[in-house]
Amino acid sequence: MITWDESFSTGEEKIDSQHKSLFQFINQLHDDMMTEKPPSAFEYSLKFLADYAKSHFCYEESCMDRYHCPAAQRNKDAHKEFLEFYKSYEIKIKKEGFTSKSIAELHVFIENWIVRHVRTIDTQLKPCIQSLPPT
Ligand SMILES: [Fe+2]
Repeated sequence: MITWDESFSTGEEKIDSQHKSLFQFINQLHDDMMTEKPPSAFEYSLKFLADYAKSHFCYEESCMDRYHCPAAQRNKDAHKEFLEFYKSYEIKIKKEGFTSKSIAELHVFIENWIVRHVRTIDTQLKPCIQSLPPT
């Protein structure tokens, strides 16, 4: 389970609130996995999570550009890489079926990725916001 705390703060209210929602969805995926929800529920959750992540990434990338954040390109590359990995997991899960093993693999990947990503890349936005007004 992931809990949002100040170590995830980017200094941008909307991004932080989207991260909090993402953490909630990821925790929900874990709960659904433990209670063995039917495959249709996972199909919906995985698509929802991908759509949410895509629109969040878009917003965050435009923010980093606006504040001339030095991590902007690294952030875009990381997002692209995440979506490619996510897609390959989705294909694998569809092929293998929505088993608790396949969902668990994806859940572990997402959870580890987002914790590391937000703390190492997204939070680089904070000093940029603090030192530069938006253009
Ligand atoms: Fe990001």
